[in-house]
Amino acid sequence: LNYRVPRTRKEIFETLIKGLQRLEYRGYDSAGVAIDGNNNEDKERYIRLIKKRGKVKALDEELYKQDGMDLKADFETHFGIAHTRWATHGVPNAVNSHPQRSDKRNEFVVIHNGIITNYKDLRKFLETKGYEFESETDTETIPKLVKYMYDNRETEDISFSALVERVIQQLEGAFALVFKSIHYPGEAVATRRGSPLLIGVRSKYKLSTEQIPVLYRTCNIENVKNICKTRMKRLDSSTCLHAIGDKAVEFFFASDASAIIEHTNRVIFLEDDDIAAVADGKLSIHRLKRSASDDPSRAIQTLQMELQQIMKGNFSAFMQKEIFEQPESVVNTMRGRMNFETKTVLLGGLKDHLKEIRRCRRLIIIGCGTSYHAAVATRQMLEELTELPVMVELASDFLDRNTPVFRDDVCFFISQSGETADTLMALRYCKDRGALTVGITNTVGSSISRETDCGVHINAGPEIGVASTKAYTSQFISLVMFGLMMSEDRISLQTRRQEIISGLQTLPEMIKEVLSLDEKIHDLALELYKQRSLLVMGRGYNYATCLEGALKIKEITYMHSEGILAGELKHGPLALVDKHMPVIMVIMKDPCFTKCQNALQQVIARQGRPIILSSREDTESSKFAYKTIELPHTVDCLQGVLSVIPLQLLSFHLAVLRGYDVDFPRNLAKSVTVE
Ligand code: G6P
Repeated sequence: LNYRVPRTRKEIFETLIKGLQRLEYRGYDSAGVAIDGNNNEDKERYIRLIKKRGKVKALDEELYKQDGMDLKADFETHFGIAHTRWATHGVPNAVNSHPQRSDKRNEFVVIHNGIITNYKDLRKFLETKGYEFESETDTETIPKLVKYMYDNRETEDISFSALVERVIQQLEGAFALVFKSIHYPGEAVATRRGSPLLIGVRSKYKLSTEQIPVLYRTCNIENVKNICKTRMKRLDSSTCLHAIGDKAVEFFFASDASAIIEHTNRVIFLEDDDIAAVADGKLSIHRLKRSASDDPSRAIQTLQMELQQIMKGNFSAFMQKEIFEQPESVVNTMRGRMNFETKTVLLGGLKDHLKEIRRCRRLIIIGCGTSYHAAVATRQMLEELTELPVMVELASDFLDRNTPVFRDDVCFFISQSGETADTLMALRYCKDRGALTVGITNTVGSSISRETDCGVHINAGPEIGVASTKAYTSQFISLVMFGLMMSEDRISLQTRRQEIISGLQTLPEMIKEVLSLDEKIHDLALELYKQRSLLVMGRGYNYATCLEGALKIKEITYMHSEGILAGELKHGPLALVDKHMPVIMVIMKDPCFTKCQNALQQVIARQGRPIILSSREDTESSKFAYKTIELPHTVDCLQGVLSVIPLQLLSFHLAVLRGYDVDFPRNLAKSVTVE
């Protein structure tokens, strides 16, 4: 929203499209924008909706094909909204994409991230009131509900935010919402519950405040003709954060800072049930109830993220760039925490809770996808260094089981984005049961990092490729550092600790060595890319490598791939092995080496042609291998950081050779903010 900052329609389009492109990794099967139809001089404004199935690029092209859209038209104040969708309700097409609208006149239009779980009831109600639905989305109930509230308002001059306040009291589920209306030109309202939302602020002028104080506002809604009077809570007073700036200013609302960072690094993170409204260039934030943190203000924060960090550089895909960033990203994870001279570890975000953690009954580590694999990869090391029972859990399954959790449990939530819905729900579940909660995320200000009692930011830098790579190795190292911190006082573990600390110090150089194998891995991909299936087998510390390698292959190459625990080989997977089935075996010089040799013999006996990821110190395995990729040797419990990289590279090359878009695999999204 630009206020007293003249912008042409072309500039407005460009800002919206650029923002969407930066968010494309979150979901991308359709996209749309809503902008004003006329410029400031025209008396009658209308809202123009332009929506398109496919990638943002398709929408961008569509914008310039529109009739009657003067690209040079100037707007002194204008509020445009845009959205990219990843379908949950209704197939991806233009009608189902956002913005969704109240009626054919587009009186109210809304964009939504999340899921409205009671949309069927709302839709039924609105249909009885004569509203006709055009899409299959849950979202469409929202603009229709706001129009209903508007048409049934008790006073002529009701504010836009008061309307939205009424609407969200009827919504169940998760949402980040932005509203635009012809009845409130140049005004914006945005709100969230469970889905992320932030506001960027750009102004040449000094803002009137940095810490926006909470004010109180009386809002009597007794007379509102609401749809379910019994459920509507009476709202006598609500807190309100008041106004900044009255001069030329621009506000950017976004789910993620990457969408707006090129315009401003000054942002306000909204909390659940905040309702932010801009009217007359002034931002105020109202609340339905006291905030979760009970913070009486919202600070304008300055983000350190730079645009170049989220650009592709010389690489053909973000995923490739992120794989090659790992020598630096792991250093960033350790920076300021590992002291290699004194051989000590300090995780600032955990230090105040360490005593409590040491006293706990068990550790439960919860995540989804790659983040879950980081927990599997470090479980044995954590059991050894903490001497505690360690459970690793997939968030969805953990919730499905209603897993017993106790006050003296410590629960870790691992999530690159910090927004994954299942992980977030598991966090709330554990919090409700009184456990101490620890977040391990890559996103400062994310829901998981805010709602946990304490935590570690893995500092890997923004990860854009949908298939997670550098976040995995940084999560891995964060958990190792936690193990080291927990074992500081254990005399019997000192030698082991020193070995691991030295291993961490040399890890970045070793990652570089592994990355130098890229060409060899590309050649391997040339041999494999036409295969339909690929097995990845290993055990012990490297079982997680197999799961993660197979996941990468599935995600971006669409080949069938399975991570197999070598210990289970004879219990089923061996039946898959013949001379046609490619089998990648991870065999490292660690306590499982001999057992892995047995598995290798089994595979050979079935005419399999194993491709072996082996340790450079191993002279045995290559004798039986169809192909060998030799890796530098490190401490057993850190080896997984190195052994996963060839599989990341392999999946990347396979996907490129098969002609797929590496960063945007079909049907998948970077941040799964719905159940
Ligand atoms: C999605 C992504 C995966 C990621 C998983 C968990 O499935 O495609 O790459 O591992 O979500 O995401 P999180 O942000 O919680 O780590």
